[in-house]
Amino acid sequence: MKHPNLTAYDGVEELSSFNESAFEEYCTCKLRECDKQVDFIRRIIDKKNYTGKVIEIGSGNGKLLYALEKNGLLDDGLGYELSSSRVNFAIKFSESMGSTRVQNICGDYLELDKSKENIDLIIGVDIVLQLIAPVSESSEKLLLDKVFSALKHGGNLIMELMDFTNIINMKAMVENDLMLWKEFDEHDPWHYGLDKFSINGDDVVWDKRFINRDRNIGDSTFTNVLRHYTFDIIKQKLIQTGFDEQKIHCFTCWKSEGDIPKDEFIVTAEK
Ligand SMILES: C[S@@+](CC[C@H](N)C(=O)[O-])C[C@H]1O[C@@H](n2cnc3c(N)ncnc32)[C@H](O)[C@@H]1O
Repeated sequence: MKHPNLTAYDGVEELSSFNESAFEEYCTCKLRECDKQVDFIRRIIDKKNYTGKVIEIGSGNGKLLYALEKNGLLDDGLGYELSSSRVNFAIKFSESMGSTRVQNICGDYLELDKSKENIDLIIGVDIVLQLIAPVSESSEKLLLDKVFSALKHGGNLIMELMDFTNIINMKAMVENDLMLWKEFDEHDPWHYGLDKFSINGDDVVWDKRFINRDRNIGDSTFTNVLRHYTFDIIKQKLIQTGFDEQKIHCFTCWKSEGDIPKDEFIVTAEK
């Protein structure tokens, strides 16, 4: 049986659930969400040596790569994404943007990326490293080694990670699985979310159940197994991979405090 992280996003952003105007509106909104990341990337790259070769691992609908292209920060972009529905969405998104510099590749980054090198920027935002690491014993090391060898000297890895320390501490207070309810913003199609957490070695098993606002369609659920990293843990792994300790940095926001959830952090590592 496939690891749940390899299929968790199947069916996400299925094109058949968008009419033309909903598609346009969604894309505009997703692009706008990337402003803070584009701003961050503009600040951290070394403009003198930057040639715009970018890889995104787990690129989803491609929004960040298109936003970088639109802002003149991407010359040659590769997005790797497991979910075919998201890749189909990304291809239509590309056409609507008139993108010419981004290639969307459907499949597992660990299996597909054989020989890329001289990359300026490798991006793994929104917990993607944490999704890849638990898939097999070798996945974490394989991913970090691949990233390191693909980067050029002076190139940057950017990751956005979630620190599960609070969840792990809360889980320790209960005998069974930890269950947390949340209520979504009134504009969200989902009304409530029920998150169930259990711990498996270094990983947190996070089962998400969504409850629809109008209750017309069935509830949806999916499970992610996520590797727990604090900044110190990931820093040690990056040093073991070959990154220089002095060139590994932690940030608490992209642009202004509060633009990522409280338990998340951003790590940059320059080769
Ligand atoms: C949390 S989502 C983030 C998507 C996107 N980066 C964003 O910010 O909206 C993580 C994505 O990584 C993809 N993914 C997970 N493991 C992957 C792998 N080994 N290779 C390529 N994509 C992967 C998932 O299918 C999912 O779409």
